[in-house]
Amino acid sequence: MTSTDGRPDLAAGLTFPPDFVFGAATAAYQIEGAVDADGRGPSIWDTFSHTPGRTFRGDTGDVAVEHYTRYRDDVALMVELGLSAYRFSVAWSRVLPEGAGRVEQRGLDFYRRLVDELLAAGVDPWLTLYHWDLPQALQEQGGWTARDTSARFADYAGIVHDALGDRVRHWSTLNEPMVSALLGHQSGEHAPGVRNPVSAARAVHHLLLGHGLATQVLRDRGADHLGVTLNFTPMTPASDRPEDVDAARRLDGQQNRMFLEPIVRGAYPADVEADLAAAGAPLPVEDGDLAVIAAPIEWLGVNYYFEQTVRAGARPADKPPTSFIGGEDVVDLDPTGPTTSMGWGVSPEAFTRLLLWLRDQAPDLPLVVTENGSAWPDEISDDGAVHDPERTDFLLRHLDAMSTAMDQGADVRGYFAWSLLDNFEWARGYEQRFGLVHVDYATQQRILKDSARVYADLLRRHRQAQ
Ligand code: NOJ
Repeated sequence: MTSTDGRPDLAAGLTFPPDFVFGAATAAYQIEGAVDADGRGPSIWDTFSHTPGRTFRGDTGDVAVEHYTRYRDDVALMVELGLSAYRFSVAWSRVLPEGAGRVEQRGLDFYRRLVDELLAAGVDPWLTLYHWDLPQALQEQGGWTARDTSARFADYAGIVHDALGDRVRHWSTLNEPMVSALLGHQSGEHAPGVRNPVSAARAVHHLLLGHGLATQVLRDRGADHLGVTLNFTPMTPASDRPEDVDAARRLDGQQNRMFLEPIVRGAYPADVEADLAAAGAPLPVEDGDLAVIAAPIEWLGVNYYFEQTVRAGARPADKPPTSFIGGEDVVDLDPTGPTTSMGWGVSPEAFTRLLLWLRDQAPDLPLVVTENGSAWPDEISDDGAVHDPERTDFLLRHLDAMSTAMDQGADVRGYFAWSLLDNFEWARGYEQRFGLVHVDYATQQRILKDSARVYADLLRRHRQAQ
């Protein structure tokens, strides 16, 4: 089948199992705004984004897309799209303004209103406890470099579950701990903006320990659909020279395997442990930690955006600081072919390979694609619509790639598009638009992009086929 512009009409050929979950994802600091409302305490992203030079044009999440007050309209958009599920995160410092101790009921009430609105609309809430916005008060006590933060995270998980456990079924502990640990503490591109390999390695382990402790707490309270969301960047050596092969191994070790393996088999990869020790940044593992981290879960969240080609060699001066411990001699090559406005390459084939690799790494663990999407320089056309053929193409090709992996045995249970709405893209600010729904930041008006309409059509057909 061919669409009007001559491209293969992938959407028409795509079919998924009847109970396959289709949703969209967001994160608290990227969309909520209302940073002072209802007793919310500051998080490391408030501090970081208000520090000159840290984000594009000095953008902050102060206002974002006003989801805190517009959540009802946003749930209505989800209904228009036909989403069966919505993945969002809870802001820890709304619930515990100082990170620990005093609970702010008004913060919990917001999430209860949101969840009730979702349930009434027939949209299943998928809750993430930590999407990078650590309470600033905990940062002042060492943040993720301090072991105590893992325990505080588990306390917070219990408090949120006490408030919402009767109505939320799917729980994820962390979003992309690799990014929190390495972009936050090694390259310093993200909050808290630290550049110190020892801190980065400590953050890795304490995030994972926090995941394990929180999983235990949630399990004890009866939760039975527990997961964690990891991001994966498939690594390919630039050549078969042994140095390049080793560079790819090291990078794959720190960005992918170091997070997956402790969770699925209760051990850090030996080569990664050796690399980190050699870099003078050992993982601060204590007896019993790995058994905690490997607590059983029901699903693994997979975030996929791009692949990387790497070679050995001194990092050129014009390359940004590396988010790789001891990795000044590893270079990631610029992508070949078209790139998104983030500068990322487009590779659905690598998505298929990744899902098949995960099938082999964790054969008994169902996978859920918790994020996949792309940013493009969208504009509102004279006809009032947002025509985003590149995003539509990206979406359909990645759904097709996922379906190929499923045909070959990858047990994928759901797909969440990143993102429901244009939003605060961290250090890249509002310039980068990932939404299916366009947001005019001056008026907060929302417009469904063409890609959203294609997604809605696909979801409608999926429902009708059931
Ligand atoms: C992954 C992160 O979880 C999300 O917050 C971010 O906006 C997207 N990647 C796009 O960079």
